Parts: sequence; structure tokens; C-alpha cells
Amino acid sequence: MSSVPEAAPQEAIRRYSNAAVTFHWLTVVLVLTQATLGFAFDNMADSPTKMTLFTWHTTIGPLILVLTLIRLGYRLKNPPPPYSPDLPAWERVTGTWNHRIFYALLIALPLTGLAAVSGHAPGPFIKLAFGIPFPIIPGIGKDLGDEFGDIHVVLVFAFVLLIVLHAAAALKHQFFDRFPASGRMPPFQPPGDRAVIVGQGGNAAPAER
Ligand code: HEM
Repeated sequence: MSSVPEAAPQEAIRRYSNAAVTFHWLTVVLVLTQATLGFAFDNMADSPTKMTLFTWHTTIGPLILVLTLIRLGYRLKNPPPPYSPDLPAWERVTGTWNHRIFYALLIALPLTGLAAVSGHAPGPFIKLAFGIPFPIIPGIGKDLGDEFGDIHVVLVFAFVLLIVLHAAAALKHQFFDRFPASGRMPPFQPPGDRAVIVGQGGNAAPAER
């Protein structure tokens, strides 16, 4: 694994494909909804409202997991566009690791959540929204479930920190440095009138603008 991600000189900025952009923003919506639900029910006394929020939290978790696995499969077949050498090497390294840790957490968070719920489940299935049955992870007792719950909470705070750093970097590139990097993820556009092409998976077809 190279220590600094490859960069390719580019006249036109190479951006993520429409599919990758859709995966990205759909994940953002689900993750922000999920975090809002989690923080909301965590501070509530037991009530039907708390149960409803919790049920939606346990429903969106598997959705994020499945979406991430599909997204990772797509990404393995369609490597992201190379960075422009305009972006300093240390930012390419931190950006790449930020993305890798995101993928790890997008898998670890739903799984630790499911493991936590499995320790308290009355049977082999839990009920998601609309009464949809979902299998628990077998063999997890109450104590182990509680430990997974603690790990889940630690990962949540790591994830929130990562989101803050990631969004701050994107906004800084776009509005302060006026680097073209954020234009890789529409609807961001590179500053000035640099052309943008789809550069994912070796595809260099002109992008709709
Ligand atoms: C839940 C929150 C978020 C998650 C989990 C997330 C995750 C990711 C991941 C994994 C990538 C790399 C995609 C890939 O290589 O396959 C990425 C790229 C990107 N994201 Fe996010 N993101 C989030 C929120 C945001 C927000 C709020 C912004 C803007 C304010 C943003 C802007 C960008 C940009 C500009 C890129 C392209 C970076 C580059 O490759 O140069 N993201 N994001």
C-alpha cells in the first residue's frame, strides 16, 4: 500500500461518478438521521416515543450496513478518481485514511449496535419498523451485549469527530483555499472555470454540468 495516494496531473478536475455521488449523499442523510435518533432516545425516559425512535434506529442501522457493502463493492470495481497533485501530499494521505476509517465505521457501527441489541432480544428475531423481523446475532448474552453497547457508543463519538473533520476539510477547500478538491464530490464545483470530468473507474467521459 503506497504511503501517499497517487496523483495525476489533470487539466480538467476528475470527479466521482454519479453512482458514487448518490451513495455518498444517501449515506450522509441516513447517518445524520441515525445520529439524531440515537442522541434523542438516549436522553429520554422510557415511553412509547422512545420505543418508536429506537425501532427506527435499529431499522436504519441494517440499511446503512447493506448500503455500505454495496457501495464498497462498487468502489472496488470503480476506483475513485486520482487526486490532483495540487493537493498537498499530507492532505491526500489524511483524506484517504479518513475515507478508509469511514468505511470501517460504517460497517462496525451497525454490527456493534446489532450485537448490543442481540444481548437483550427475547428471541432469535427483533422487530424493525413496520414489524419486519430481523435476525439477531446468536450466542450473545446480556453482559456481552452491554459491552458491545459500550463499544458502540465509543465508535459513535469517533465517527462524529471524523464527520466534523471531514466536513470542515471539504468546506475549507471549497471556500477558503479555493482548491479544486471538493469539486470531486458534486454538488461542490471547483472554483474558477476548470472543467470537470467523471474520473472514476478509469472513465473520463465528460460530466454533465
Ligand atoms: C455522514 C457523514 C459523511 C460520511 C460518512 C462521508 C463519507 C465520505 C467518504 C467515505 C468519502 C470518500 C468516497 C470514496 O472514496 O469512496 C467522502 C468523500 C467526500 N465527502 Fe463525505 N462524508 C460525509 C459527510 C460529508 C459532508 C457533510 C461533506 C461536505 C460538507 C462531505 C464532502 C465530501 C467531499 C468533498 C468528498 C470528496 C473528497 C475527495 O475525495 O477529495 N462529506 N465522504
